[in-house]
Amino acid sequence: MVAVAAIQIYFARHQGEPQASGTAITGDMAGVPIGGPFTLVNHEGEMVTEQDYADKHKLIYFGFTYCPAICPTELQKISEAYAQLSEDLQDQLYLLFISVDPERDTVPVMAEYVSLFHPDLIGLTGSVEQVEAVKQQYRVYAAKFQDDSMSDYTVDHSSFIYLMSPDNTLRSIYKIETPVEEMVADLQAKFN
Ligand code: NI
Repeated sequence: MVAVAAIQIYFARHQGEPQASGTAITGDMAGVPIGGPFTLVNHEGEMVTEQDYADKHKLIYFGFTYCPAICPTELQKISEAYAQLSEDLQDQLYLLFISVDPERDTVPVMAEYVSLFHPDLIGLTGSVEQVEAVKQQYRVYAAKFQDDSMSDYTVDHSSFIYLMSPDNTLRSIYKIETPVEEMVADLQAKFN
């Protein structure tokens, strides 16, 4: 689930920064302080850092496997956009799904979940502290929420797909409203 308030908070913090074109934010984002070093565990149980993904561009999405609606939709969108790219462009891109719910998103849970979307999708989780650190790097809002009607907690979180360059510079942000076609067109433009 995505808290609308979180998105408003996000954009309130980013006033004056790059203008949106269409539904995505794709302008010159030099100097926008999003992204940075991290240490996490991939869905095969290996410790990884941002250096393991420094040879390619990256599409990065933060969410959690128990998410009822938005996360599956956005991961499906990432998979569809990726499938529409040429093999040459696919080879220049990692797909990273980073959990904001590390307590439930263990390595086996992540492995099973990412396999539902695309064989090239990489799931990343870690300790609560490691996930907190990467959330801060990417300015991701995520907070547990539970009320009396719920048997377990959910996580309200911001929902943005980040396109990062190999050196971890932000290139584009795709939003929930961004259609697959617009993502594909922007990716093709950014790689050419
Ligand atoms: Ni979600």
